Amino acid sequence: MCGIIGYVGKNDATNVLIKGLHRLEYRGYDSAGIALITQNDIFLRKVAGRVNELAQTIEVSVPQSNVGIAHTRWATHGVPNDVNAHPHTDCKNRFAVVHNGIIENYRTLKKFLEEKNHKFISDTDSEVIPHLIEEFYNGDMMAAVKKSCSYLEGTYGLVIISLDCPDRIIVARMGSPLVIGKGKDEYIAASDLAAIISHTDQVIYLKDGEIAEVEKDHVKIDRRDVGLITPEIEHVTLTLEQIERGGYDHFMLKEICEQPVILRDTIRGRLNYDDGIARLNGIADYTERLRDADRIIIVACGTSWHAALIGEYMIESLAGIPVEVEYGSEFRYRKPVLNKRTVCIVVSQSGETADTLAALREAKRHGVSVLGICNVVGSTIARETDAGIYIHAGPEIGVASTKAFLAQIMTFALLSLLLGRLRRLSIDEGRIIIEAIKRIPDELSDLLECLPQQIKEIAMTFKDHKNFLYLGRGYNFPVALEGALKLKEISYIHAEGYPAAEMKHGPIALIDKDMPVVVIAIKDAIYDKVLSNIEEIRARYGIVIAVCSEGDTDLKKYVDHAICVPYTIDPLYPLLTVLPLQLLAYYIADFKGLDVDKPRNLAKSVTVE
Ligand code: G6P
Repeated sequence: MCGIIGYVGKNDATNVLIKGLHRLEYRGYDSAGIALITQNDIFLRKVAGRVNELAQTIEVSVPQSNVGIAHTRWATHGVPNDVNAHPHTDCKNRFAVVHNGIIENYRTLKKFLEEKNHKFISDTDSEVIPHLIEEFYNGDMMAAVKKSCSYLEGTYGLVIISLDCPDRIIVARMGSPLVIGKGKDEYIAASDLAAIISHTDQVIYLKDGEIAEVEKDHVKIDRRDVGLITPEIEHVTLTLEQIERGGYDHFMLKEICEQPVILRDTIRGRLNYDDGIARLNGIADYTERLRDADRIIIVACGTSWHAALIGEYMIESLAGIPVEVEYGSEFRYRKPVLNKRTVCIVVSQSGETADTLAALREAKRHGVSVLGICNVVGSTIARETDAGIYIHAGPEIGVASTKAFLAQIMTFALLSLLLGRLRRLSIDEGRIIIEAIKRIPDELSDLLECLPQQIKEIAMTFKDHKNFLYLGRGYNFPVALEGALKLKEISYIHAEGYPAAEMKHGPIALIDKDMPVVVIAIKDAIYDKVLSNIEEIRARYGIVIAVCSEGDTDLKKYVDHAICVPYTIDPLYPLLTVLPLQLLAYYIADFKGLDVDKPRNLAKSVTVE
């Protein structure tokens, strides 16, 4: 959570920092602030609200500066107001700090500092950091930051400026992502590449336990317990255009519309039709371990957890390996039964989700092989897993995940095909799956041509309803969960997803003439059972919006709205059936005039527990 950025260089720091904050805003956007080194002091401005409000506040009054830091916040400790916004400073305003993460022992540290007469003004955990630096500063900035960091428990990405060293920024990382971009006579440090790539493609990924001292033409990195190390500069290929909105009203809509292209990228070079198998080079060294696993545990959060559930169904039915799906937040605090033949797969779009990362580390502590399914290249999870598969969805900016979900499902389809072929599928069975996989991008393109108009009409009809129910069975049960989550996230309408047959054990009590029920009723192996569930809804005057198979004229007679998707093989249906649900959530939120890309209280990347 939270976006942090620091700049030191030949250019105007404010300009770089504000532009960078805009690109980081998806990480949190309840307040924002900036601190700049000026001739005699540190210029500081903080506002409750978005980066635009900060930009307007400083427009006329900002001094010229070449060194500064800035922050866009997602509140954890203390309400979003001006005082709790970052940067935070020490008693004499000589040090300013932006922080991403949570300092878990801040109460103890605050007490310790208050006893030494430090004065605190905010309710945040972060404010202890500048006071610690002030306490330990003895003329050597690096030493003061190092000592302060050794007192911190929890997670942090930090960028720090000091009046005593006006020509540099100090950057530190423990558990929260930080990248340093190297430009010509300038360096930019930020939570992620989005704020950096318009300046440079040369980057240094800071690792946990590292502290960097950055001047405009020089960077020095100190690694805990090791000392000074030579920075490793990497070349990134991400383009700015990839993260711009490209003419769409919202990133979410752009990302929904990109899905056919994305899936082509996900499968590119990974299908071998002759052998009816998938090729996943990233996990080549672990294929046998997976094939012989007695159990696969998939760990994820949010939308990635829904993709993992679909992965479970796919791997069990195609490869016959037992699979369990866990929330990262639960797994990390349980005592999971793991053995040498267990393989853990962590799924994360951002590769930074704190609970998923902690679960990964917990699994590794047990000596289990941990593989990753990630989107963000070079993210912490991608780096810490033993091996992994990138889903190639490109930067996802809309807070509600869409294209990454489809790319994750497709990745599970490839993995299941690979494992299935190594265990029990024939070449011909493998080829049938490959043919179906290859058809999906075009089928999605066709759907994107015809669905929006119909779904806009449905969205307009139901936008003011207060509750929705989503039902699906088999592979489409997790799709129902995802459809409900999308609606909740961006339209603030209460929605629940259920396995269709479970409806009679509770949710059926909610059904009346005002309850829209979205039912995924495609012609798969359990179609007839879902029809019975639809009858049960109709018998209670519920409104049925069905996602059904093309040409299912019978069903159309029974339901209020029928949204058709083409035929495919059962495991791949989620790739098609989720599209109308994404669009429905999008148009409802848009018609309600809500901020689709930045829904309240949410953040794209949840790097706190
Ligand atoms: C946040 C995002 C969700 C995402 C979840 C897991 O809650 O808003 O869209 O599904 O985190 O994120 P990850 O990056 O690990 O997939």
